[in-house]
Amino acid sequence: MTAHIIDGKTIAQQVRAEWKLRADALKARGITPGMAVIIVGNDPASKVYVANKVKACAELGLYSIHRELPADITEAQLLSEIEALNNDPKIHGILVQLPLPKHLDANQVIEAINPDKDVDGFHQKNVGALVTGETPFPSCTPYGVMVLLEKTGIAIEGRHAVIVGRSNIVGKPMALLLLHKNATVTICTSKTVDLAKHTRDADILVAAVGRANFITGDMVKPGATVIDVGINRNSDGKLVGDVDFASVKEVAGYLTPVPGGVGPMTIAMLVANTVRAAERLSGFGKQIG
Ligand code: GUN
Repeated sequence: MTAHIIDGKTIAQQVRAEWKLRADALKARGITPGMAVIIVGNDPASKVYVANKVKACAELGLYSIHRELPADITEAQLLSEIEALNNDPKIHGILVQLPLPKHLDANQVIEAINPDKDVDGFHQKNVGALVTGETPFPSCTPYGVMVLLEKTGIAIEGRHAVIVGRSNIVGKPMALLLLHKNATVTICTSKTVDLAKHTRDADILVAAVGRANFITGDMVKPGATVIDVGINRNSDGKLVGDVDFASVKEVAGYLTPVPGGVGPMTIAMLVANTVRAAERLSGFGKQIG
């Protein structure tokens, strides 16, 4: 079997076009959705991600600002930047790119963001809403995976979804979003004993462990859907996922590539969350749908 390769770039374009209609409807009422992205320090990968996020907002006609802050900024200074954005009526979404330099407490920083502007869905109020019901802001990467699955026509209800990775950004919210759709969910880590026993039982396997080519073909059930959330550089400097594409594509039914799979969806869902934040803050959400 050779897997159907899920084209995240094309699906992300469709999603962006859908959300552009909602952004345009708000703009017709005099509200331009606005997003602020904060990056602290000079991590080259983070800089690329942030530039892509700002570019996506510009392409959809959203307002965006991009604050590049020095690596040695104090926590008090960073918190005061966030407070200014919390109070800026042109800004509906605030994103602080992670990871932060070690001297900054990421939890304190996230909790300082107004939860109604927390388009990453990382604030405890939004994490709680995700656990107990519906959050307005599902975290962008797992949200993008859900939309990819839905738009590809992959059945979720009653299926066994296995997630490898338990991060706050991907693994945990991914598990909850799948659970809300009535999947049977298993969360594994890179340390799970006999990991392949679990992954081989997955109808939907999500790899979010941050290790190049970690999931190999022998760990996959024939016909399974394999979603690769990893972004790693191999020893040749080439971008590779957590999934060994060559061996898994011979076994899986559906597979996302890296690049061009989940990555473009993460950015599309950030745009979606920013437009939704603007709808909620302006009170126009319900009329628009
Ligand atoms: N770093 C890696 N992924 C993300 C993300 O989705 N949001 C933020 N803020 N930082 C990240």
